[in-house]
Amino acid sequence: MEKKRILTGDRPTGRLHIGHYFGSLKKRVEMQESDKYDSYILIADVQALTDNFNNPEKVRKNVREVAMDYLSVGIDPKKTTIYIQSMIPEVAELTVFYSNLVTIARLQRNPTVKTEIAQKRDLFGESVTYGFLGYPVSQAADITAFEGELVPVGEDQLPLIEQAREIVRKFNNIYGKVLIEPQAVLSSGKRIKGLDGNEKMGKSLGNAIYLSDSEEEITKKVMSALTDPNRIKKDDLGNPDICMVAYYHNLFSTKEEVKTVCEECKGGKRGCVACKKQLAKNIIEELRPIREKRAYYEQHPEEVDKILMEGTKKAQKVAKDTIKRVKKAMKLDYET
Ligand code: TRP
Ligand code: SF4
Repeated sequence: MEKKRILTGDRPTGRLHIGHYFGSLKKRVEMQESDKYDSYILIADVQALTDNFNNPEKVRKNVREVAMDYLSVGIDPKKTTIYIQSMIPEVAELTVFYSNLVTIARLQRNPTVKTEIAQKRDLFGESVTYGFLGYPVSQAADITAFEGELVPVGEDQLPLIEQAREIVRKFNNIYGKVLIEPQAVLSSGKRIKGLDGNEKMGKSLGNAIYLSDSEEEITKKVMSALTDPNRIKKDDLGNPDICMVAYYHNLFSTKEEVKTVCEECKGGKRGCVACKKQLAKNIIEELRPIREKRAYYEQHPEEVDKILMEGTKKAQKVAKDTIKRVKKAMKLDYET
């Protein structure tokens, strides 16, 4: 049976946190272990520049950080091809070709783009760049350059995949059936809230625990997590449903521990400080193998670079093959 190609990726704008871990990384590791799939992961540095064009240093630095995060959670370069987007010029070429197949109005209606533009008022003001508005087109190029059949994404990315499918259908209608129409796979991973109770964990919100955080950093962050605000003394009856510490106990502690936490909290028999310390200990233990693996790569940056270059070389071959067929279909095949 032919393996299905899976394509996923991240913008390298910061190190990855436990939100990424539960939301997508765990799932990627799981899929990489199945012999039904051939996994590609792109580090989308060109896409990262669409909303960080004024900060190239940040993007550059985070390409390696994100690569180390991948390796530390168990993405295995022998099984998964990890590559750098900007080193695949064919993706930029495809983006130009596809830009004729999508209208400005359609991009402006894309819900993901709309939401992001609203969030990035600081950067764009009232008028968004051509590059940012068009990033769904380059994402369609990312996927189709590698004949990505399955794209595991979170709910927020679904409109981008829908847009890619439209572009593919239009291309195939006009130029002949060259491209493969990708399918979104909703990653069943959980979306986890921030330490402050915010719906989203994120760097800009300062409410994240990173895979690379030290034991001290984890403890400090857990100690500052939002608890039931009505609880002042230990014997006040608490409500774990509105406490982020209880929420994270659910993710990192055993079932019995969670049961005890909730019962003691509700009965006013549990101090918040002790409760947080116990949680911090559990998070530290769970993340230990990841942290240790990451520390190894931090000390061996040349190995990380080598993995990236080998993955990228392999990816370049695939993209070259696609662009050849695309150009032939578009009557742009001058090379003999
Ligand atoms: N848009 C994704 C993000 O927000 C990154 C990305 C770029 C991507 N190209 C992709 C994801 C292709 C899946 C497939 O981080
Ligand atoms: Fe939260 Fe634990 Fe304090 Fe209850 S005892 S409010 S669960 S930190």
